[in-house]
Amino acid sequence: MANTQPLLLNKNKNISPFNIVLLRKHMRSVADIAYRVSLICGFSKKTSVKIYKASLHHDVGKFYWYDGLFTKPNKLLNQLDKEYIYRHPEYSVKYLQYAMPRWAYNEYLKSDISIIDLIMLHHEKPDGSGYYRIKNIPKEAVVISFADIFSACIEFRQYKPSMSCSMALNLGLADFKDVFTKEEVKLIKTDLQF
Ligand SMILES: [Fe+2]
Ligand SMILES: [Fe+2]
Repeated sequence: MANTQPLLLNKNKNISPFNIVLLRKHMRSVADIAYRVSLICGFSKKTSVKIYKASLHHDVGKFYWYDGLFTKPNKLLNQLDKEYIYRHPEYSVKYLQYAMPRWAYNEYLKSDISIIDLIMLHHEKPDGSGYYRIKNIPKEAVVISFADIFSACIEFRQYKPSMSCSMALNLGLADFKDVFTKEEVKLIKTDLQF
């Protein structure tokens, strides 16, 4: 699944407090939305908690980025920047491996679709157009991927205005229309229209 080249970890960790706050807020928001959507999809409480935990940590790998990358326009990205961006799911796993006690990290590896699997898959799309081009992703990962897109659209970013909920819902659901049922889409739209 992952690139076999070694990760280029930024050891300076000179990220501004502002970007740290935004990133933490984003992960909490994705976790909250993904948890709600997972219950709508009929996942058990246990699986929904697993989805919540994966969402809460999905982007911690961005703490290895350098500060300017958080706001760098797409057209100015160089090859190294793209590597940091496209490989951040792997960075997140690496970060947790370093940051968590071994026993806690082992919990994240448990079950067929583990929390670590879900973190690795959080930018994948059912048609294989995601970061790692994986098709047929489990629905648990779809829930996180949708929540991530929806959250990013409605959140403030220095380089873009925040989007309305209805626009963000349509955009977020567009890539997953064959995965969520009509009834689930209806319930998601009702629940997230704030
Ligand atoms: Fe991400
Ligand atoms: Fe994210």
